[in-house]
Amino acid sequence: MNALKTLSTRQVLHLRNVLFVLALLPLARLVLFVFLDKLGANPIEFITRNTGDWALYFLTITLAVTPLRRLTGWNWLVRLRRMLGLYAFFYVFLHFTIFFWLDHFFDFQEMWKDIVKRPFITVGVLAFALLIPLAITSTNAMVRRLGGKRWQWLHRLTYVIVPLGVLHFWWVKAGKNVLAQPILFATIVAALLLMRILSHKNRQQLAQLFFRRDAGAGLVEESK
Ligand code: HEM
Repeated sequence: MNALKTLSTRQVLHLRNVLFVLALLPLARLVLFVFLDKLGANPIEFITRNTGDWALYFLTITLAVTPLRRLTGWNWLVRLRRMLGLYAFFYVFLHFTIFFWLDHFFDFQEMWKDIVKRPFITVGVLAFALLIPLAITSTNAMVRRLGGKRWQWLHRLTYVIVPLGVLHFWWVKAGKNVLAQPILFATIVAALLLMRILSHKNRQQLAQLFFRRDAGAGLVEESK
């Protein structure tokens, strides 16, 4: 396990390439199913659900990166986060496109009516809309343009987006009275968010402690 703490840049790049290919497998499977005519009695529903599931998996995995890094000390995990986040966006985008295309045939008015009428879709669209600025600002150039602090603040939207995704999922499943999976995701996401809050509080406390020590040191210096 200790070997995993210090992966070289080359190893991280290899891992990233492997993950890049693996993350495309759900899409490849869907395309294969289309050609093999294995999408079942309701192909649109199959594709919508499948892309929705993968969107949620990638969102949750992306949210897990920092807590996992803190727990394990595997700092290189951070270098996979952008790609995982972009894959989350990619699957949400597919999910939304299927809905807009195959459910509404690109009829914007009809889609809008649906968004307003069905709260689970309203929540899904909100999560998707909030993801767009994160995807746009995911490049190094955008980090530089925005400045680290502002970029970080913007990307904290993740803490809203993932719960909205879970709520959307919950609503879909509540309609069918099958809540085991939404409960599982809600628990995982709540635990991940709690870990973030706690580590933030710890850092604040540490900072306060150091600040007091520094202040104390300053007083000692002054009294000399
Ligand atoms: C972050 C954004 C989103 C996430 C994470 C997400 C995730 C999901 C998940 C996990 C499901 C259930 C799949 C299953 O039954 O196994 C689902 C279903 C669905 N989602 Fe989303 N979704 C998002 C955004 C959207 C958007 C923007 C739309 C449309 C505008 C949308 C429309 C739907 C529809 C129509 C269903 C199927 C409901 C049914 O089977 O009756 N979702 N979504």
